[in-house]
This record gives sequence, structure tokens and C-alpha cells, in this order.
Amino acid sequence: MSTTRSLNRILLILSLTACASLLTTSSFAADAARGEKLSQTCLGCHGAPGLRNPGPVYSIPMLGGQHAEYIVSALKAYKDEQRGHKTMQAQASTLSDADMADNGAFFAAMDGNSRPGNVNKQKAKLGQEKSAICASCHGANGDGSSMAYPKLAGQYESYLTQALKDYRSGDRQNPIMAGFASTLSIEDIRALSAWFASQNGGLSAPESVIFK
Ligand code: HEC
Ligand code: HEC
Repeated sequence: MSTTRSLNRILLILSLTACASLLTTSSFAADAARGEKLSQTCLGCHGAPGLRNPGPVYSIPMLGGQHAEYIVSALKAYKDEQRGHKTMQAQASTLSDADMADNGAFFAAMDGNSRPGNVNKQKAKLGQEKSAICASCHGANGDGSSMAYPKLAGQYESYLTQALKDYRSGDRQNPIMAGFASTLSIEDIRALSAWFASQNGGLSAPESVIFK
């Protein structure tokens, strides 16, 4: 066999393998109905009006309407202990990849009902001025369409502040956000959180109860 022919053969095998793995990926569809069943424990916290993390105190994030892919990557980050939150580490530790995808599909499909805007307007204005750098990934008002990046628009203000503090301190390890958060002062963090929390991104909160 000539070198060209054997090279062609290798290329053919490689492309068949690539097709096979594409087929495997696309035949795996996330199941939102199964996700709903799995998510009953989750709703004890994520669906409970006004429930907050005990210490430090901040509102438990809204997951309804969040991007499914991001939910999966966040769950993996808890499972791999790249995010330090112990309760969420425990919750994620028992979830398989399929469980995570189904949970993500269930939460992402929820209709938004949050009523953002319950923030200090002056602080939000200052945040808007500082937010240009965030827009390339999160969208101008935090409602970006890229599935890999979380929606920030309409998320609880206190939760956004905590997340940014955690990227800054290393309690959340994400190379991209660590870089951005390290340049922010605590005043910047508060202002940016107020800005994004005041925008409407179609996230949903239990029974429309909005706390900060
Ligand atoms: C005991 C309360 C509690 C339970 C039960 C719980 N969570 Fe959480 N969850 C939290 C808290 C608090 C946070 C914020 C943690 C942090 O600061 O990183 C969080 C964060 C998350 C995040 C990250 C959101 C974001 O915007 O980054 C996801 C995704 C998530 N939880 C999914 C789930 C799923 C799925 C379940 C069920 C298998 C679940 N949670 C069960 C309290 C809970
Ligand atoms: C280059 C892309 C990029 C830019 C620019 C960027 N982010 Fe992020 N952001 C990400 C990614 C990726 C994540 C998810 C990280 C993870 O998995 O923990 C994230 C997560 C976050 C979170 C956590 C949200 C949640 O639900 O837990 C906040 C808050 C945040 N970013 C705010 C900002 C702010 C404020 C800026 C501007 C100062 C900014 N980001 C700029 C990519 C970016």
C-alpha cells in the first residue's frame, strides 16, 4: 500500500470516529421531565421563597431560566471542588453527567418571573459605567445568549456580590473570572452587582418573591 493510500485510510478512520462521537453526543438528549423529578430536593432551597445561605448571608441563586450548559458546568465545578461551597459540593457529588444535563434542561425551560429593579439606582448607574468589559461574554445587560456564560440579568444582587468576592478570593476557581474579579474593588463589585441585578434576563424566582 502506498503511503498516500494508507494516510487516506487513517484519515477515513479518524473521520468515521469523529462522526461516531458526534452521533453519540447528539443522540444524548437532556430529559427535562426526568430533571423535574430529580430536582425536587434542589427546589427545597432553589425554589423556596426568600431562603438565604446562612453564613455569609446571601440569597440562594435563581436557576429558573438560566442557561442549561452553564448549570451543568457550575454543578461540575462544585463536584470537582473548584467552587468551595460545601452544601453544593455535597449536592453535586452524587449527580452523574446525565443527571446534571437533565437538571439543567428542567431549570433552563422555566419561564422567567423575576421582577428586577429592586436596587439602589445610583449604584446601578455606576455599575453600568463599569460593565462594558463584562459585555463581551455576559451581554450588555447581563442577558447574553452564549450558553457557556451565566445570565447575570435579574439575578439576586447579594448572590452576584458573593460570587464576585469568591472569584477574587479564590474560593471559586475559574481562571477567566479570577482574572476579571482581581481587578475589581469591593465598591466596583457592589456597583456591578446592582447593575446586573436591575436588568431583566428572564430568570425566575419562586413565587416572584424578590429579595436582594
Ligand atoms: C441546602 C440548600 C441547597 C440545595 C438543597 C441545593 N442547592 Fe444549589 N445552591 C445553594 C446555594 C447556597 C448556592 C450558592 C453557592 C455558592 O455560593 O457558590 C447554590 C448554587 C447552585 C448552582 C450555581 C448557580 C449559579 O448561578 O452559579 C447550581 C447550578 C445549583 N445550585 C444547582 C442545584 C441542584 C441541581 C440541586 C439539587 C440536586 C441543588 N442546587 C440543591 C443551595 C442549595
Ligand atoms: C471572557 C468572558 C468573561 C468576561 C469578559 C466576564 N465573565 Fe463573568 N463569567 C464568565 C464565565 C465563563 C463564568 C462562569 C465561571 C464558573 O464556571 O464559575 C462567569 C461567571 C460570572 C459570575 C457568576 C455568576 C453565577 O451565576 O454564579 C459573575 C457574577 C460574573 N461572571 C460577573 C462578571 C462581571 C461583573 C464581569 C465584568 C467585570 C465579567 N463577569 C466578565 C466569563 C466572563
